Amino acid sequence: MNGDADPCREGFLSSLRDEFLVSRDDARGMIADFHEEMRRGLAGRPSSLSMLPTFAGRPRGTERGRSLFLDLGGTNVRVGQAALDGQGRVELAAVERTVLPRTIMSASATELFDFLAGCVDRFLLERGLDDRRPHDLAFAFSFPLEQSSLLSGRLVNWTKGFTVPGVTGEDVVALLRAALARRGREGIRIAALANDAVGTLAAGSYADPACDLGVILGTGTNACYYERTERIERCRGDVAVGEMIVNVEWGNFDRLRANPWDELLDRSTHNAGRQRLEKMISGMYLGELARLVIVKAAAAGLLLRGANHAAVATPHALTAERLAVAVRSADPAGAVGIEGAAPADGAVVAWICRLVAVRAARLAGAAIAAVISWRDANLERGHVVAIDGSLFERFPGFRENMREMLRELFGPRAAGIEFRRVRDGSGMGAAVVAVVGPRTGGGAGAC
Ligand code: GLC
Repeated sequence: MNGDADPCREGFLSSLRDEFLVSRDDARGMIADFHEEMRRGLAGRPSSLSMLPTFAGRPRGTERGRSLFLDLGGTNVRVGQAALDGQGRVELAAVERTVLPRTIMSASATELFDFLAGCVDRFLLERGLDDRRPHDLAFAFSFPLEQSSLLSGRLVNWTKGFTVPGVTGEDVVALLRAALARRGREGIRIAALANDAVGTLAAGSYADPACDLGVILGTGTNACYYERTERIERCRGDVAVGEMIVNVEWGNFDRLRANPWDELLDRSTHNAGRQRLEKMISGMYLGELARLVIVKAAAAGLLLRGANHAAVATPHALTAERLAVAVRSADPAGAVGIEGAAPADGAVVAWICRLVAVRAARLAGAAIAAVISWRDANLERGHVVAIDGSLFERFPGFRENMREMLRELFGPRAAGIEFRRVRDGSGMGAAVVAVVGPRTGGGAGAC
């Protein structure tokens, strides 16, 4: 970056470049560590990857049926109705999206679950489904779950800024059922509980049997894949039947080279020390990382002298959406709300935004490479990766940078890995999980 000839600024920018670099060797080291953590997690030993059994099997693509779904993500709640046609297609009859009020993230458990039940209630009323007939409802819950069956799961811990007390360790299906009952909706049968990554994989593989990895790149980030049940050592007893989706919870991977900005960001969060990979990749944190760098550079007099940067002065003032605008804007500083910046400073702002986002995409690419190579070390088959989330969908250059990382790691064989966007994957996929039902029988309660 040669914004101008200021040697202090050049020095600052050059250390930034090193701090955010993910070289091919870094990625290779990360993959080896990832595999070790996966192995430990599957064995039930301490690991930053919890490798959670989900009791969801691989759809055949021929299942037919319909289900309502309720999808609690990090930013939105979606309620919808999905129909599986028995030929690999899922039709979404209707989807209603409600932005989650920020206050709900720290409200009481009753308030949170009443809010969710209210969204379901409204959907049924507005869609004329209010006939009090029994309905199946699939619950997509985008947080780590310790499941003992497809129909129940305890929250392991909150992530993505949620702090609602009284939910950790509790069965979220029981909490939802109670809230629906408070609304007089006892007739709704909760037919499946699935994490969003799990839903995305189920939806992807209902449509295409080559799909074997589900990834979320949105407010948070995570992945899941099909594991042979005999390798899930943490499950004891009669579960050695075929395959089961394992929720990696890769956002918590922590064998990473954290730079000073990562440390600063981590210290400011509710869950310091946790979700370290998520804090480098996902939409909830990218803007804040860039903001921390910009503010520090400005305070050191290296950037934005004479400009008004009050708009980025407060924590979380810069969102990933703004970053996405800035990286392709003719006025990047203006795009993030900074007024009166010199054009050269604007170019540096855009460069910082890109730097943070490119690292995120490369880390996501390396993590995908790790999970694929866990099951197929030499890339002997093709792989379809089902992906949902705003970063993947909308952040300029994100998927290209992920691809580039795969090419650096696998050479021409990377062409055998296809990214496939699965829109509304988590809710629609939870409905798929509900219709498909448990595949790995006999194991309820065994993990
Ligand atoms: C967080 C959650 C995880 C979820 C992901 C994407 O990492 O812990 O369960 O899948 O966000 O929403």
